[in-house]
Amino acid sequence: MMEILEKVKQVQQAVESFPIDNKEHLEAFRRQFIGQKGAIKGLMGEMKNIAPENRKTFGQEVNKLKQLAEERFKTLQDSLIETKQAEGPAVDLSLPVIPQQQGTVHPLTIVKNQIVQILERMGFNQSDGPEIEDDFHNFTGLNFPENHPAREMQDTFFIEKHPDIVLRTHTSSVQIRQMEAFPPPLRTFSIGRVFRNEAISARAHCIFHQIEGFFIDTNVSFVDLKQTLFHFAKELFGDDTKIRFRPSYFPFTEPSAEMDISCRICKGKGCNICKYTGWVEIGGAGMIDVNVFKNCNIDPEAYTGFAFGMGLERITMLKYQVKDLRLYTENDLRFLRQFRGMM
Ligand code: PHE
Repeated sequence: MMEILEKVKQVQQAVESFPIDNKEHLEAFRRQFIGQKGAIKGLMGEMKNIAPENRKTFGQEVNKLKQLAEERFKTLQDSLIETKQAEGPAVDLSLPVIPQQQGTVHPLTIVKNQIVQILERMGFNQSDGPEIEDDFHNFTGLNFPENHPAREMQDTFFIEKHPDIVLRTHTSSVQIRQMEAFPPPLRTFSIGRVFRNEAISARAHCIFHQIEGFFIDTNVSFVDLKQTLFHFAKELFGDDTKIRFRPSYFPFTEPSAEMDISCRICKGKGCNICKYTGWVEIGGAGMIDVNVFKNCNIDPEAYTGFAFGMGLERITMLKYQVKDLRLYTENDLRFLRQFRGMM
């Protein structure tokens, strides 16, 4: 009995002093002590040779030893895993980075943001209106007489007929909504989608965006309109930009004008962008018609106002020399990536 207990003690010492620094050592430890053919199993096999009165003591000793070995195995196993995690995967800091393509802001959004900033600096606040409009806000309130050919200026998408519900053909509908909702003075602008039943081409689309601005107060004159747009054009296109007005017709403004800016490409000398005129059109404008005021219960004796409307796609084309407005909706990354880094 003494002999076998001495053997248990030896194994115990070996278990305690076995050096373990890595996975291989750990596996050797497991095989030598805990495994099926290990020393502890071997000791248990001795049980049959032990006198029955000593078996209990022997069994207890061997069990203690087994526990000890298993605990040591477990702690070392855990600490090896921890060290491994702390070391982490091998990193070569001199390797070049994997390029990641960042998204870009859409050119229309870039120009829209610029326009919002310019108009807000000029004291215009932003307003909004629905894209689905009734006849009054899109046409009648804006002094389009019923069955008047002026309605055909704008090829309308009808959602319902009699009474008419339409996809708004211009943002001038927001003028009516604002005049109904708020008493003058009003100095506000709106940017949004408009819809016209037109064939899609390089220069026309059935969905596009307009910027509508208007100012109603006492003594607002055509000079205010001109200076406002002149300042706007210089801010957006650069200090050397000139503007000019050509007489035009809109049912909701009188007098009405079409506005041009001096061609930015050739600086007025003439090129294929401005069709050798030196000027490019950016929108329409005018003094708000007395009938529009009346339709919105605003006293035309007390107030005057101007309004202007411009196409966002067109302005963006001029600013960034986009030759075909279908590019805006094709999601071609070669086009969109040219605006990388711009906001
Ligand atoms: N609503 C007009 C259009 O779509 C533009 C415009 C707006 C003209 C405001 C005058 C005043 O063509």
